[in-house]
Amino acid sequence: MNITMIGTGYVGLVSGAGLADFGMRVICVDKDRERIQKLHKGEIPFYEPGLEELVQRNVKNGRLSFDSNLETAVDRSLVIFVAVGTPDNGQGQTDLSQVEEVAESLGEIIDDYKVLVLKSTVPVGTNNWFKKMVQKKLKKRSNIDIVSNPEFLREGSAIEDFMRPDRVVIGAESPRALAIMKDIYRSLYLIETPFVFTNLETAEIIKYASNAFLATKISFINEVANICEKVGADVHQVAKAMGLDKRIGSKFLHPGPGFGGSCFPKDTHAFAFLGKKLGSPVSIVESVIKVNRNQRRVMVEKIEKAVGSLEGKMIAILGLAFKPNTSDVRESPAIDIIQALLQKGAKVKAYDPEGMDEFKKAVNSINLTYGIDAYSVVKGVDGLVILTEWNEFRNLDLKEVKKLMAQPLIVDLRNIYEPERMSELGYHYIGVGRGVNPA
Ligand SMILES: NC(=O)c1ccc[n+]([C@@H]2O[C@H](COP(=O)([O-])OP(=O)(O)OC[C@H]3O[C@@H](n4cnc5c(N)ncnc54)[C@H](O)[C@@H]3O)[C@@H](O)[C@H]2O)c1
Repeated sequence: MNITMIGTGYVGLVSGAGLADFGMRVICVDKDRERIQKLHKGEIPFYEPGLEELVQRNVKNGRLSFDSNLETAVDRSLVIFVAVGTPDNGQGQTDLSQVEEVAESLGEIIDDYKVLVLKSTVPVGTNNWFKKMVQKKLKKRSNIDIVSNPEFLREGSAIEDFMRPDRVVIGAESPRALAIMKDIYRSLYLIETPFVFTNLETAEIIKYASNAFLATKISFINEVANICEKVGADVHQVAKAMGLDKRIGSKFLHPGPGFGGSCFPKDTHAFAFLGKKLGSPVSIVESVIKVNRNQRRVMVEKIEKAVGSLEGKMIAILGLAFKPNTSDVRESPAIDIIQALLQKGAKVKAYDPEGMDEFKKAVNSINLTYGIDAYSVVKGVDGLVILTEWNEFRNLDLKEVKKLMAQPLIVDLRNIYEPERMSELGYHYIGVGRGVNPA
């Protein structure tokens, strides 16, 4: 089966390479020519563990290729996946301009039966709208089928998530399209992956409801953490005990600076917007967004309380990516927190194993400099703030770090260290939700 994957971002490239690994012949197309040129040279445009090997293997076996010409790719394919970006438009609504552009291009190209699969996260009704947009542009009356196949992969473990997903959701209107989709995902059938076959609208809602629910768990535990701090309780033990209840589950109960990334912030906004538009507000999700915004402020206050006035202070930051094992800094808590520290007069020295190039595009200040490793940024600082829980930060030589710092102060917004050990080492250590903080 020949497949075109439009968009070679986190979802498109992982899904394209993954489908090639399942035995499909996949042509990945992107309008960003530079990105396609890089991919031709074997360069992966972002950091995702294992992706380079997966891409190389499938290019070598002839099942995966890259092209910036949509027409030749579509001509050769029965199924066209769309994995372009659907960012927030700045007002809490989804910017569908990339999807619209794809619909217009496809309408002009398609002259034969095709299955169009929307993998991008799109608001309810978009699949139908997309079909109409394509049909309006068609020169010849060709038969097309539309399928909603939302993606649930997580950056940092995207390949594992794509190859062994918890479930695959397929919203389809025609038995022919459904049969083709079952064929594409046959490898997952064989490993007994649960499939949900449904209509377009249900598939669209499943994606938003899932992300909104996970975001809710994060905001919930963050508020619990803030209470724990005030009463001398330990949020880790609270979360562990809660998670042992199978109805609750232990995942996504880690307190911290609030959720970021390219999905939860925009998807919660879009879901809340949809509810308002339909006259059925999702007040819980509206609160989750508010709590998340507030959590950033609480974290800045925590740092300020620990350091004292930030004016003229030197602060080291470890971690810029919105989570470990990715170079993605979109909506990363580090953006808001570092900007607030800079505004309050601090000088910031930052290090992230993969996210620094992207962060330089997001925040620009003469008072923000970068190091080559953790040790290079802690030299002479008044405090160290942990913002992303990369494994390499868990194993630092903390005696050495303490020697390098001007003040032995660590504000650990990811709770990667044990408070008792840190005080034994002579640190003034502050975590999130772990007993009464001395600050
Ligand atoms: N990133 C994630 O973890 C994740 C997880 C699940 C779902 N999603 C959803 O998947 C979609 C894609 O997300 P992403 O993070 O991969 O986006 P991304 O921004 O990393 O990649 C989008 C790619 O599409 C390309 N593109 C845009 N318009 C195009 C066009 N007309 N023709 C060809 N290429 C075009 C861009 O150049 C870019 O390379 C979004 O809807 C997102 O919400 C993302």
